[in-house]
Amino acid sequence: MEKIVVDGGRKLEGEAHVQGSKNASLPIIGATILTGGENVLHMCPILKDTITACEILNLLGCKTVWQGKTLIIDSGGVCRNEISKCLMNKMRSSIIFLGAILARCGEATVYFPGGCDIGSRPIDLHIASLKKMGVEISESCGELRCRVSGSRIHGAEIFLSFPSVGATENILLAAATARGETVINNAAIEPEIKDLCDYLNKCGAKIFGGGTQVIRIKGVEKLTPCEYNIMPDRIVAATLLCGVAVTGGEVLLNSVRPSHLSSVLPVLADMGCVVRACENTIFLKAKNFLISSSPIRTMPYPGFPTDLQPIMMALACVSRGTTIFVETIFENRFRHVPELRRLGASIKIEGRVAVVEGVKMLRGASVYATDLRGGASLLVAALAAAGKTEIFKVCYIDRGYEKIEQQFSKLGASVFRV
Ligand code: EPZ
Repeated sequence: MEKIVVDGGRKLEGEAHVQGSKNASLPIIGATILTGGENVLHMCPILKDTITACEILNLLGCKTVWQGKTLIIDSGGVCRNEISKCLMNKMRSSIIFLGAILARCGEATVYFPGGCDIGSRPIDLHIASLKKMGVEISESCGELRCRVSGSRIHGAEIFLSFPSVGATENILLAAATARGETVINNAAIEPEIKDLCDYLNKCGAKIFGGGTQVIRIKGVEKLTPCEYNIMPDRIVAATLLCGVAVTGGEVLLNSVRPSHLSSVLPVLADMGCVVRACENTIFLKAKNFLISSSPIRTMPYPGFPTDLQPIMMALACVSRGTTIFVETIFENRFRHVPELRRLGASIKIEGRVAVVEGVKMLRGASVYATDLRGGASLLVAALAAAGKTEIFKVCYIDRGYEKIEQQFSKLGASVFRV
């Protein structure tokens, strides 16, 4: 079993380039199905999840070619409309291919998605919204058979009970070439949604209000392929900042959008770091010790991102004082806590609340990644821990981070994969 080995306690310093966003690239890869031609996606991160997305596209009849960080997708040959259970199980975001396949083919067979076990991950909002747009969906033993009643998906006025990122993306993919207009009320406003809307509009869609709570989509007859630059990954950017901060180091991140981290940078400043943000760079310099921040409550964007809760918790483990975390998005997102405790962290959990008492020093140990961001949390903690840490199940981390060990070793960490 592959593992990452960290010899912690080194101060990290240097400059880092931030990879393209996993959570922007996945829906955009799905959206290429709508264009029926050759798309060129630059800054596409090479990850387990984007490779799985390409497997799905190839299965549907597309051609996908990687040229470095550029992914070329020709969706002219789409001839199938089923995603296998095995592929659906590999990642949660496989469900957002449903809207695009239905819009292109008129019918689709998929399965309840897999992905990180951070909660039940229901798809009721996806299904209810697609039904309102004229899709008949029958479910049996986890298989979803979907068919567009009539010749085309039709527009609808949709009210999301929760600003679900995935449901917003699925509706956008179904609505872009639907007959008539669709309005999404209480849409997710994460930056990845805006990136998807910008890609679709570059293909000829008529989407207004992307990145706001009300998105209006006027269906068009056809979308044409385009060349597009995917946005930088805000979660990877923050992970690099936290990895440096936990070692008392300093870093200059380039090719990043500070505005995407408007709820995160103040927390790092609160903890004693000097943080300077310019147009597409962030400079961080940490003190030799961190102080605990005020309570961190995860919220939909622009609130504190749930994906950073595990990673920020690693910082809190070695900060002076007590930090309270409230996880409001996913009901099972503290699975990294027992592993952090193996490193000597002092954390108490009560339901969706975690109370972290900072300790003077963490100590290296053998730990297991439990999910994508939980695994990243262990790596950040290991960078601060005295001695050697072995992190197993690195396959989880590879779903969202490009060679994370190389990203940190370039900043001076003693970290390698064996
Ligand atoms: C996306 O997941 C991201 N994944 C997640 O990142 C991220 O944590 C999440 O948005 C929140 O920001 C991708 O973009 C691939 P949601 P998604 O639908 O779309 C409930 C990572 O580490 N819900 O906004 O699944 C759901 O249970 C991953 O990169 C329903 O109840 O998130 C959860 O409580 C982890 N019914 C809440 O909404 C539905 O039909 C947020 O889910 C859909 C969602």
